[in-house]
Amino acid sequence: MTRRVVICCGSGGVGKTTTAAALALAATRAGRRAVVVTIDPARRLADALGLAGLTNSPSIIDGNWPGELYALMLDTESTFNGLVAKYAGSQEQADKILANRFYRNISGALSGTQEYMATEKLFELYEETDFDLIVVDTPPTRNALDFLEAPNRLARFLDHRLYRLLTAPTRGIVKAVNVAAQGFLRSVGKVVGGEVIADAIAFFVAFEGMDEGFKDRAKRVDRLLGSDETAFVLVASPRADTVEEASFFAGKLGEHHITVEALVVNRMHPDPGAGNPLADRKRAETFAGTTLGNLYTALADLRTVAQGEAEHLADLSERIAPAPVQRVPLLPFEVCDLDTLTRFGDVLLGSR
Ligand SMILES: Nc1ncnc2c1ncn2[C@@H]1O[C@H](COP(=O)(O)OP(=O)(O)OP(=O)(O)O)[C@@H](O)[C@H]1O
Ligand SMILES: [Mg+2]
Repeated sequence: MTRRVVICCGSGGVGKTTTAAALALAATRAGRRAVVVTIDPARRLADALGLAGLTNSPSIIDGNWPGELYALMLDTESTFNGLVAKYAGSQEQADKILANRFYRNISGALSGTQEYMATEKLFELYEETDFDLIVVDTPPTRNALDFLEAPNRLARFLDHRLYRLLTAPTRGIVKAVNVAAQGFLRSVGKVVGGEVIADAIAFFVAFEGMDEGFKDRAKRVDRLLGSDETAFVLVASPRADTVEEASFFAGKLGEHHITVEALVVNRMHPDPGAGNPLADRKRAETFAGTTLGNLYTALADLRTVAQGEAEHLADLSERIAPAPVQRVPLLPFEVCDLDTLTRFGDVLLGSR
């Protein structure tokens, strides 16, 4: 783990938040200064990380370790607002945008905003702090890697023709087109409500001059995500459906020329070793009604589960090779505080 940025991605509920927190903690125990960006952590984990309220900037977690551990819980809205303030030409321009109803609606509802803001927060920490390691948790997404695409989606939106027309400099022929576009929007406004359109126009006008900043930033975020400093850790469970989703993820990352650095398969059932469950079931029949018979049945069941999991994982493991596959068993406790995170991290990184 010598990269500066680690991004934990995978489908819903597989253990992304747990893995991210455990990796940051492990780095801290190894003497590094680490920060973990969490997204909607479970309540008890949030408490354990000192994240009772929304904390959009890193707060330190006390502990007896050689490094330093910081955590924050992503607050999408204030991250977006901060971004607007950063690129506004003046405080006045920022205030105008932040108070705009259209902005307030899209900033919360724009699909991919949470992903976008996760990458934004990452970039902010990367540029403005000197942490040795930034671990980023990602929101549950099915079959999509919105955080890879969201910054560019906004950049594309800002390149949109209509947007261009609305914010075009008000001179000559351009002005005529601009007026025409506004006229068109006003007639649309009669259908969807004039206020909505007026808010939108006011937003675009207020946004003028900021699009370059946003687009440039999107490019730099893209570069960071694809750079050697960033490692993507794919988290999955051994269930067939999440393995399939993880394969899809790996493919998507590949399309962006990003390789999976490691695959974490979380909540594995214990593997009782080589053997044939059919033979065990035969033995169970032979000893039916006895303790040994029950044990053979249990062994056969366990083998069936373990062999099923191994089968589900075979293709995916091959696909991401030579990246390692780190297996974490289903643990007999909830991973929700520093102690259990330590144990999770030890298993994950193989020190036990
Ligand atoms: N190996 C494990 N054994 C037992 N419990 C686990 C294990 N890994 C994770 N858990 C528990 O499973 C729950 C879900 O884990 P986590 O919140 O990390 O998943 P997630 O992928 O972040 O979910 P979401 O997609 O909803 O954000 C947590 O309560 C966590 O403590
Ligand atoms: Mg989570």
